[in-house]
Amino acid sequence: MIIQPKIQGVVARSCHPFGCQAAIFEQISKSLSQQSSSGTLPKRVLVLGASSGFGLASRIALAFGPAKAATIGVSFERGVSEKGIGSAGWYNNIFFHDAAEKAGLISTNIVGDAFSAETHEQVAKSIEQDLGGQVDLVVYSLATGIRPNPETGEFWRSAIRPVGETVEGYSVNFEKNSLDKVSLPPATKQEIDETVKVMGGEDWLSWMQFLSERNLLSKGCETVAYSYIGPEYTHAIYHKGTLGFAKTHLHNTRDDINTLLKNIEGTANIAVCKALVTKASVFIPGLTPYLLALYRVMKAKGLHEGCIEQMNRLFYGKWQDAADRDAEGLIRIDDWELRDDIQLQANALLAEMTPDNFTKIGDYEGVLGEFLQLNGFEFNSVDYTQEVDIEKLKALRP
Ligand code: NAD
Ligand code: NA
Repeated sequence: MIIQPKIQGVVARSCHPFGCQAAIFEQISKSLSQQSSSGTLPKRVLVLGASSGFGLASRIALAFGPAKAATIGVSFERGVSEKGIGSAGWYNNIFFHDAAEKAGLISTNIVGDAFSAETHEQVAKSIEQDLGGQVDLVVYSLATGIRPNPETGEFWRSAIRPVGETVEGYSVNFEKNSLDKVSLPPATKQEIDETVKVMGGEDWLSWMQFLSERNLLSKGCETVAYSYIGPEYTHAIYHKGTLGFAKTHLHNTRDDINTLLKNIEGTANIAVCKALVTKASVFIPGLTPYLLALYRVMKAKGLHEGCIEQMNRLFYGKWQDAADRDAEGLIRIDDWELRDDIQLQANALLAEMTPDNFTKIGDYEGVLGEFLQLNGFEFNSVDYTQEVDIEKLKALRP
């Protein structure tokens, strides 16, 4: 079978396994060349949301960078089925593990619903068996639209909406190569509450409680969750919208986790990341014009970073310098994005951008290219005219 990109709106319906492998190799090489830093580095790491985006980049940075960490990665992905080839994250897990094993690194993939009791038990068992009983760092990088209510089994569903006002904006459509007008009505109270349930800090805290109760956290254990704040332009749809409510809840959860970890001298951290093309972010209506402008400006200044550059800078830079925090104690790897010169130029581009000129004003080629690469397409090292043997793919296990 020859695998080609299949895009529906902003969702990829196919992925190229060997392109996913190329993406893993590319990220690994960027972490291998990372300089060693002076502080203590985590040796045993649990990554929740490990198969793509920031979670995958965290795992690669910590395993293949100077930390040389043993990792357990939890994700929700699927392989070959009658529905298709499976998800990019499925192959990312497989090829990460393969590369880690060849490098002599311990790595375990757990594919399952991070909200389920079963997955919690599998993680506990794996920490005992594969990591000698404890972890030094828990990376919380889940991004999802639904979370089951543990009491009722019914689902909470997030809604990406402004709060208190209607927002008019544009969203990109990668299938039609168009910028489409979107009008987003304000969220209802229930939509705000459910988004906080899904993307706030409750599940992060409950994971830390579970691990703490089972004595699976080492002395001085740390945890980090990822956040976004962004500039004025995105505030109506993000920071002041439902997602912002969820992120504020996530930030406040840090205090609860710090209290929980006090007796083991552990710490909870929030790293505020930059806006990037991921499976999750292209879904945020109204955000893409900003991504198009931001990519153009940051690339022109030589400051563009992908997930792996961000995570290398986090774990081998900002992380080590406890004084390098903002007034609220947040780690800011969105510092370059929010520089005045970057924002001034991005705003100037946004003021000019229309559905007719967005491919020229913004970095459409770059943003689309990254989106395709997330799904294993557009790598020079892969021959996309080659047949892929589905039976062989089926035999690959994460
Ligand atoms: P992503 O979609 O690339 O990754 C999400 C991960 O969560 C995947 O590994 C997926 O398998 C896993 N996952 C989802 N539901 C799951 C479930 N039920 N059980 C187990 N695993 C599950 O997303 P991302 O963009 O890397 O987002 C990660 C975090 O980074 C989020 O908190 C997000 O808000 C934050 N962040 C993203 C951006 C951005 O621009 N992309 C910027 C700042 C912060
Ligand atoms: Na992730």
